[in-house]
Formats: sequence, structure tokens, C-alpha cells
Amino acid sequence: MEKKRRIAILTGGGDCPGMNAIVRAVAKKAILDLGYEVVGIEDGYEGLIQDRHHILEYGDMSGIITLGGTILGTSNTANPYANPTKTDGGFEFKDVSKSAIANISKMNVDCLVCVGGDGTLGAADRLYRDGVPVVGIPKTIDNDLFGTDVSVGFDTAVSVAAEGIDRVHTTAESHHRAMLIEVMGRNAGWLALYSGIAGGGDIIVIPEMPYDAEVIAEVVRRRSGSGKRFTIVVIAEGAKPVGGEAVVRQIVKDGSEPIRLGGVSFALASKLEDMTGIETRALVMGHLLRGGSPTAADRVLATRLGTRAVELVADRHFGHMVGLRGDSIVEEPLEEVARGQRKVPVDHPLVQSARSLGTSFGEAP
Ligand code: F6P
Repeated sequence: MEKKRRIAILTGGGDCPGMNAIVRAVAKKAILDLGYEVVGIEDGYEGLIQDRHHILEYGDMSGIITLGGTILGTSNTANPYANPTKTDGGFEFKDVSKSAIANISKMNVDCLVCVGGDGTLGAADRLYRDGVPVVGIPKTIDNDLFGTDVSVGFDTAVSVAAEGIDRVHTTAESHHRAMLIEVMGRNAGWLALYSGIAGGGDIIVIPEMPYDAEVIAEVVRRRSGSGKRFTIVVIAEGAKPVGGEAVVRQIVKDGSEPIRLGGVSFALASKLEDMTGIETRALVMGHLLRGGSPTAADRVLATRLGTRAVELVADRHFGHMVGLRGDSIVEEPLEEVARGQRKVPVDHPLVQSARSLGTSFGEAP
């Protein structure tokens, strides 16, 4: 009997809504349309390194389009080229790519589909250059990947953040308060920009435009002086003052990304309260933005990207990530995707739209 062709899939990096919708699209199309067998690698690159995986059946994909997280599990520290490994004195980063690649060979797959953000897809690019047939699919609430206008998970995170901002609006208004709502996004301001606009933020602070506390304080004073009962500031976790640095919540030694951001809203809120005399509170939305069911837009995007990725596998068109440009699904070489973090251009049309409505970005004049 002829052996079935196989593909493997892993989900890496921080989880986000829509990852399961991607897994479902890849597995269902591969099994139903092309007769492949699909191997699910557990916990991202950790499972690849440790040789942990299982077969995904068509029936396993039922009902997961609505599920947050990833049924495969994920890891945002494991990396075949710099894997944190315990030693007597602590740990060191080891290159375990040879054994990871040997594990892929043992699985006997035509291709490894890697679903992830810049860390996962950066390692995918290296695996490809080391001879592994790879196709990438973008997911990250930060939306900071080159090669796609939108990544899976972003729309849901924006929607959750916007709902949070709406809820904060009413309580801020009741109490005559200024409120700072801090959203994730690392050093990119996409999530703050989109959710700030959707939530009608009065001030949006993003890492790409260092803020001047006096400018923000003046907006708060002016609004209060003109009878407004609230001021809403939407601030990215990576925001930094002019000439200063972002607020670091924690440094994790065993991660490829050692710096965990967070807390800028608290620091700025107390400063603003001192400067304006107006009660100012802070709220960090944090991992709420990564949980729960994906929006319809994320489910549709996941389905489009996942099915296109399987077509690339069938065409043996490896070394690319599928992405969205305008309304078209495109392919981008992984090396382009791996070249860094895509930030918000300061003259982005959305920044201009927001400014034209009177939104402040809190930056120095
Ligand atoms: O990259 C996604 C993201 O949620 C960032 O926005 C955030 O800075 C980081 O991951 C948080 O990572 P962790 O879950 O490891 O704290």
C-alpha cells in the first residue's frame, strides 16, 4: 500500500486567538483536499526539540475554530538555534538545530508549517536555510511582522482592547477622572493605535513617538477646564518618554526575549495626577488581550492563510510566509519576514486621521 504523504505543523511564541483556526484550516484542507496525514508538534519548538508530536485527525478539528489559545500548545522560549538549557550554574543557550532537524526527518514529512511571530518565523527561516522545507503563517497580537498587513490575533486583541476602553470610559466620566489604559504590543504601537482609535481615546501614546508628560498633562487640563468629565489615554506598553526608556516589568534570563515590558501606565498616571491635580488611574489590559474566542475577521483570515499555506506545500513552494496585502493573500520570503520588527510609521494614514479628529499623540512639540 502506498504510504500517505505527511505535513507537520507547530504553533510557537505567545498564544493568541485564531491559532486554532489556523491549525484547523491547515489540517482540514491537507487531509480532505490533498489526502495528507497531519502531524501536530506539541508546544512549538520545544516539542520539535524533544520529539513530541501526534497525528491530528480530521475529527480533532471539529469545533476548534472558536477556541482561544492553541490545542497544540506553544513555547516562547524554545528555539532550535538558541535553546535555553539548564546547567549546574544556571542555564546556557545551546544550538540544538541538528537534533531538531533529525527529528523532522524522522517524522517523514513533506513540510513543516510554522505558525508564529517574529521569533518563530525567524527560526523557521534558519531551518529553511538549513534544508528543511518550511512554510510560515503569521500570528501575533502585536501586528509587527513584515510581509503582511495583518497577522492573525490582531483583530481580536483590538476588539477586546476597544471593549475595555469603552467600559473604562463610563466609569472615568462618572468620577471626573483621567484614565490610562495600557495595552500590549512590545515596541510597536499598532495595537494601541487601532484600539485607541476604535475606543475614541483622547490621547494615544505609542513607542514610535516618545511622549512628553507635559503635553499629555496639558491635554488633560484643557479637557477638564472645558467641562469634559474624563480623559482617556490609550498607551502602549513600550511607550517611552522623550530621551527616556520603556518601563521594564521583569527580565527573564532564559528567554530569547529577556525583557518583559509593562507598567508605564502606573508611572505616568501618578506623574500626571501630580502635574494636573486631576485624579488619574491606570489599567493594564495585559494577557486579557491574548485570551478568548477569535473575532470573525480573525477566523476568516486564519482560514484564508491556512488553506493557502497548504497550497504552497502541495506546490513545493517552500521558504515563504503567507500574508495579507490589501485583500489579497500573498507570499513573502521568510528572510524578509525575519529582518526585524515592523513599527508604526509616524506619518501612517491612521495617525493622520486621528490627528485630524483632535486626538493627541502626546509627543513633544
Ligand atoms: O508578542 C505578544 C506579546 O503579548 C507582547 O505584546 C507582550 O509584550 C509579550 O507577548 C508578553 O509575553 P509573555 O506572555 O511571555 O509575558
